[in-house]
Amino acid sequence: MTNTQDYDVVVYGATSFVGQILARYTVEQFSNGELKFALAGRSISKLAALKVELDAPDLDVLIADASDEDALNAMCSRTKVVVSTVGPYALYGEPLVKVCAETGTHYCDLTGEPQWIKRMLEAYEDLARQSGARIVHCCGFDSMPSDLGVHFMQEHALKQFGQVSTDVKMRVAVLQASRPLLAMPTRARL
Ligand SMILES: NC(=O)c1ccc[n+]([C@@H]2O[C@H](COP(=O)([O-])OP(=O)(O)OC[C@H]3O[C@@H](n4cnc5c(N)ncnc54)[C@H](OP(=O)(O)O)[C@@H]3O)[C@@H](O)[C@H]2O)c1
Repeated sequence: MTNTQDYDVVVYGATSFVGQILARYTVEQFSNGELKFALAGRSISKLAALKVELDAPDLDVLIADASDEDALNAMCSRTKVVVSTVGPYALYGEPLVKVCAETGTHYCDLTGEPQWIKRMLEAYEDLARQSGARIVHCCGFDSMPSDLGVHFMQEHALKQFGQVSTDVKMRVAVLQASRPLLAMPTRARL
């Protein structure tokens, strides 16, 4: 991978429920120039409205429909990493994984759809290994708290007892959702 891309990260699906939360976080944390980023999605009008909500008029936006490989290619050519919240992934996700694997663009998503992940591995793992793309599924709430929880707990177990636990149980006591910035017409939201 070269270092000539315009962006470190593109948030693809920035107008989705989770995409808006991620877009707001990215703007709040990284507008200091530490990270070069852009928002992307299929709807220029929704992305424009999101920029207003984020009070980020100069933020770059890229347009790409999830089924348009040429547009996805153009997006991937401009960034090192794509974070995709465009789902359901089994319906919309494959072309982007394919393009990322082909172009050596790193990728992560929120999917919790194991059959689709298996299909992506079978179809694109070899290609991604050749191009150097890191394709990282399962970065959503389904996965990260438990993955990181086990990781940190096992680190602690090793330090404290000299060995890892063979059995780990997880319990979630409290959950809280954020509010989206844009009206979400398709589903009721908190
Ligand atoms: N594993 C987990 O813990 C976890 C947690 C949360 C969400 N998720 C998954 O993550 C995904 C995002 O969740 P969400 O609640 O943010 O979804 P959402 O609000 O329903 O948004 C879906 C997004 O996909 C976009 N989209 C649909 N068809 C497209 C196309 N042809 N081209 C480009 N974009 C298209 C929509 O664009 P528009 O805005 O233009 O309509 C929208 O931004 C879902 O698949 C969800 O199941 C997983």
